[in-house]
Amino acid sequence: MKVVSIVGARPQLVKLAPIAGAFAGTGHQHVIVHTGQHYDADLSDVFFTGLGIPAPDVHLGIGSGSHGAQTGQALAALDPVLAAERPDWVLVYGDTNSTLAGALSAVKQHLRVAHLEAGLRSYNRRMPEEHNRVLTDHAADLLLAPTEEAMRHLAGEGLADRSVLVGDVMVDVCRTVRDTVLAGGQPPPDLPEEIDRAEPYLVATLHRAENTDDPDRLAALVDALAGLPLPVALLAHPRLRARAEEHGVKLDRGALRVGRPLPYAGMVAAVLGSAGVVTDSGGLQKEAYLLARPCTTVRAQTEWPETLDGDWNRLVPDPHDLGAANWAAIATRSAPTASRGEPYGDGRAAQRVVRVLADALA
Ligand code: UD1
Repeated sequence: MKVVSIVGARPQLVKLAPIAGAFAGTGHQHVIVHTGQHYDADLSDVFFTGLGIPAPDVHLGIGSGSHGAQTGQALAALDPVLAAERPDWVLVYGDTNSTLAGALSAVKQHLRVAHLEAGLRSYNRRMPEEHNRVLTDHAADLLLAPTEEAMRHLAGEGLADRSVLVGDVMVDVCRTVRDTVLAGGQPPPDLPEEIDRAEPYLVATLHRAENTDDPDRLAALVDALAGLPLPVALLAHPRLRARAEEHGVKLDRGALRVGRPLPYAGMVAAVLGSAGVVTDSGGLQKEAYLLARPCTTVRAQTEWPETLDGDWNRLVPDPHDLGAANWAAIATRSAPTASRGEPYGDGRAAQRVVRVLADALA
């Protein structure tokens, strides 16, 4: 079996790691195509080196642009690559513009497409990720769902007969890296200098367009983070830095200590060392849950509602609605005692993906 994986943005590289690992021990051929949607070393290269992913076989060098331009350029560049490779499966990951481009290029060339992390929904049609995941699910031949909830969404849209529950590959990679970190197999995370790792601190990230692109919203969120009573390590995505600069929003103030995005193992170590997480990232919400740290998500919806059980994750659409004291109490709350179960699977999802792809050809 020959499979082409199409990736382009940071969260996809995390998911690619266990998939590439699962293919490595088989006789199957796995070809990696990177669209280049993320091009900063902090968002791309460090994930290949840090997670032991083989270098991409093809790099398309797409870069940034409006949604249409970025998706369109990836689509045009993927056509000849897939035409030359003619794989048994094209595997696309998650909800980015690269995912949608990969699915479209494949389906129009009558190549089988499998969508990893299928069936997630926010039901917020203003999110680019929501357009991408819905369109990709409906274009794909095989929907690899991470959760029971995702399976229900797919069934509700008439896609049950193409859907298989495989679990979440992020559990595979998160558990492996957690064990290495806990065994002392990683250097301490490269946190902003002013963070004392011996004292309680929070980890924060913000990068969603819905939070960064409206100047008032961005200023209000930064304000809320800066007012927290614990130091906050803000690991700033390039989109956050760019928009903050553009809108004249100062990031380095109050409780905020600004640093670069971390490689995956550094992020796991930073979360394990922290008192909690404040974020708008889907991946980080789930990592906080898997690593048993309380998370506060500055969004109105989550695609990972299982994390809300037992108050491990709390949605706060607008911190200012709560008043400073309530907001601080939520963001700095202690880890809940509720048990977490295994809603995201058993850590063997990637092997299951390889098996399901092979079985579907037989
Ligand atoms: C993208 C995905 C999002 C995912 C996120 C993870 C889409 C629509 N969004 O969002 O689902 O959660 O990746 O990070 O595909 N930039 C750089 N260097 C880079 C990449 C981006 O400076 O390496 C800057 C550019 O100013 C760019 C902006 O960040 O315009 C946004 O990048 P883009 O790829 O459009 O979206 P992300 O916000 O990273």
